[in-house]
Amino acid sequence: MDRADDLGQGLTSYDLDQLDRGAELRRLERQAAVALDRERAAVASLGVDPGATVLDLGCGPGLMSARLLELVPAGALIGVDADPALLARARERCAGAGARARFVEAWADALPIDDQSVDLVYARFLFQHLPRPLVVLAELRRVLRPGGRVCVLDTDDGNLLVHPAPPGLDHLLRASAAGQRARGGDRHVGRKLRALLTQAGFAQVAVRLEPFTAEAAGWEAFVDVTMGFKRQIVDPALMSAEEADVVIGALRALSAEAGAWAQTAAYLAVGARPAEAA
Ligand SMILES: C[S@@+](CC[C@H](N)C(=O)[O-])C[C@H]1O[C@@H](n2cnc3c(N)ncnc32)[C@H](O)[C@@H]1O
Repeated sequence: MDRADDLGQGLTSYDLDQLDRGAELRRLERQAAVALDRERAAVASLGVDPGATVLDLGCGPGLMSARLLELVPAGALIGVDADPALLARARERCAGAGARARFVEAWADALPIDDQSVDLVYARFLFQHLPRPLVVLAELRRVLRPGGRVCVLDTDDGNLLVHPAPPGLDHLLRASAAGQRARGGDRHVGRKLRALLTQAGFAQVAVRLEPFTAEAAGWEAFVDVTMGFKRQIVDPALMSAEEADVVIGALRALSAEAGAWAQTAAYLAVGARPAEAA
């Protein structure tokens, strides 16, 4: 889709045309493999009606869409994404659901979806890429039925801790945060989700933290999931991709150290659309 008009619509720090598509798809699959069961259980614990209509916003290749469909056997799923090639993969992945699943190309802040027609929104690793998250949240309030819930899952590099820390790790985190900021994104969005949902007028806002460690995921998966995207967006004025590779190589090498530790965390923020629009 065309990107970046004067209002900032179409600005996103996730533009696959500027990334290595193959590598990024593998990273998304790996990221999903280590977490989707837990996320599905977290959504199920909200008490989803089997006939509900669910919106997977920024659905990418539809990894979570397929799991959300399992929760609404008599309902429907709408997947929205700005990237047509990813939508094609999502359609293929969810083809078994027939007319219960539809995938639409759109920007998150201008959804071709009727007012008050959705029961649950799930937005997975999308908000870190949005220059105007409050505009998107206002759009989600519009499409949600009163009492409908929004779930935003995202990360925050402030939780990324490694011991022993390889030389250059802090610099890599600064360079990737700067690179993402320059594209309109925010690598520290996790800590802001409570404020964003509250400011957008959602009620009953609750945020929980899901730990993600190299011990539980395995070092290789941990490094791929946490570093694969960062490597591609480092601000070249601060660090080259080759310099990033040296730091990432040192992180991988820690798998051979018995006492090494690495962690980060995902935030799952949930809010309800109040009965009365404010
Ligand atoms: C990191 S990927 C996550 C994909 C999927 N939710 C997952 O967890 O596997 C972010 C996705 O959001 C989409 N995206 C980014 N900014 C967007 C925007 N402003 N409107 C719609 N989609 C957007 C990208 O095309 C991409 O598919």
